[in-house]
Amino acid sequence: MSQPPRRSLESLRSQRWLAKDDMRAFAHRQRLQQRGLDREQFLGRPVIAIINSWSDLSPCHAHLRERAASVREGIVAAGGFPVELPALSLGEVMVKPTTMLYRNFLAMETEELLRSHPVDGAVLLGGCDKTLPGMLMGALSMGLPALCCPAGPMLNDRYRGQTVGAGTHTRKFWDEYQSGNIDQKEWIRLEARMTRSPGTCNTMGTASTMAGIIEAMGFMLPGASSLPAMDAGHPRMAWACGRRIVDMVWEELTPSRCLTPAAVKNGIVACMALGGSTNAAIHIVAIAGRAGITIDLDELDAVARRIPVIANLFPNGDRLMEDFHYAGGLPALLKRLGDEVDGTTLTVTGRTLGEHIATAEVQDAAVIRALDQPVTREPALAVLRGNLCPDGAVIKASAASPKFLCHEGVAFVYDSNEAMLAAVHREDSGIDEDSVLVLRNGGPVGAPGMPEWGNLPIPKPLLARGVRDMVRISDARMSGTHYGTCVVHVTPESAVGGPLALLKTGDRIRLDVPARRLDMLVDDAELARRRETLPPRAPVFARGWQRLYTEHVLQADRGCDFDFLTGTAPTPEPPIY
Ligand code: FES
Repeated sequence: MSQPPRRSLESLRSQRWLAKDDMRAFAHRQRLQQRGLDREQFLGRPVIAIINSWSDLSPCHAHLRERAASVREGIVAAGGFPVELPALSLGEVMVKPTTMLYRNFLAMETEELLRSHPVDGAVLLGGCDKTLPGMLMGALSMGLPALCCPAGPMLNDRYRGQTVGAGTHTRKFWDEYQSGNIDQKEWIRLEARMTRSPGTCNTMGTASTMAGIIEAMGFMLPGASSLPAMDAGHPRMAWACGRRIVDMVWEELTPSRCLTPAAVKNGIVACMALGGSTNAAIHIVAIAGRAGITIDLDELDAVARRIPVIANLFPNGDRLMEDFHYAGGLPALLKRLGDEVDGTTLTVTGRTLGEHIATAEVQDAAVIRALDQPVTREPALAVLRGNLCPDGAVIKASAASPKFLCHEGVAFVYDSNEAMLAAVHREDSGIDEDSVLVLRNGGPVGAPGMPEWGNLPIPKPLLARGVRDMVRISDARMSGTHYGTCVVHVTPESAVGGPLALLKTGDRIRLDVPARRLDMLVDDAELARRRETLPPRAPVFARGWQRLYTEHVLQADRGCDFDFLTGTAPTPEPPIY
């Protein structure tokens, strides 16, 4: 195979900081030697940033300091100079009100870390839900060679003979605890289960979904997206990332060469076959938007109608990410999909996706199913339209109760998560299994940050009667590890005057997933009357990140990116003097 052309040392960006014979460059070299380095360790070498989202409050990333060390060794082995730059860690469970409020923060931080430092390429260490999308968005905007080193899923766990998965079983056991089927002693015992090791959620939650999508888009080494965090292969993969990024710099393999429309489509195809999280509908649009590629939600729906869910993983199925890795991981899954995958797209290895999956094999057909034996006949994602969501809403049809996919019921509407939690569990609420629970003000502007409130709780009186699902609707998001008949991302959101703001308790709602419709059965004249009495929305935040966020965040159908961050308009390099 012929070697790709290599750029000259003089053309490297870092040379502007380090190579000149002037006082400023002298100071840069001097300050690196202040660290105890010899000039040989950094001069004449590509400078590689290791953007690390480790923190003590990001347990999914608990091992990323060690992995950064492996990446560092790989960079040095390939003749590069590693510099570790810490970034916002965004541990999904600890950050309030939601990590989504800060995904764009991490994207901006990644972009500006790369821009402001003498860096030629980057390895992005992340995994917990928003981290890889945020980092990749930033790297795309900066345009330097970059590849993702995913944190990897945590190990499988079992409890009383049952396979249990992070997130999914937390919700299941909580419902059993609420209905009295689990006592407090067992509930406390469960705290130490389901999260058996460092690493990301081991179900097909948002972290696993986005890792798979990003590998399919070409930004990971083959098979990396499912490699368990505690597998001996994981530090090897990290080391290989370090080695590879140095060559990527010499080859000028920038993100825009990988992220073409065909690569985005491969990511969407992977998402649907994996039975991915609804959050992917936001992140895919945002990632593509940084490369100047516009994705309409209907494109996601069209792919979801064609591509069956063949990855048998919670919450759609009954296996975990470790099983998926043993079964062949993403390359084997993509191989199953045949012509649906565009094998010509370039990946960070310098080879095409088609080359990577050519030799892949499914090792366990119970985990990666045949196309004619999907985990469910329902699609991973359905995009709904109607008078309640003219710009779209999404439902994970594959994890919903089939009996609710066509449903009409009376709405119980709540203006805040607190109000909803205070009301739904009352014995006299009037809510029954056929009611439709609706939460508004959970969107990008309204919450703000679009928290994962969309898996509204089943009222306790109904849980006690054995009810485990009902139709729930919101302009919020839902954890990818969760399940149930939850319509989320209602757009436009209520806080910006979307029709959801007009809905009243007692209105009837019709959900028709096969027809891709979501409507409130209220006539137009009445809706117009209600709109006249809507109170104007006052600005909530006088200062700070929340103000910037609420003033600039786009709606869910546009990826919740900031209006001033999308697209490919160049930002000038910083002057050096
Ligand atoms: Fe980190 Fe689920 S909480 S991946």
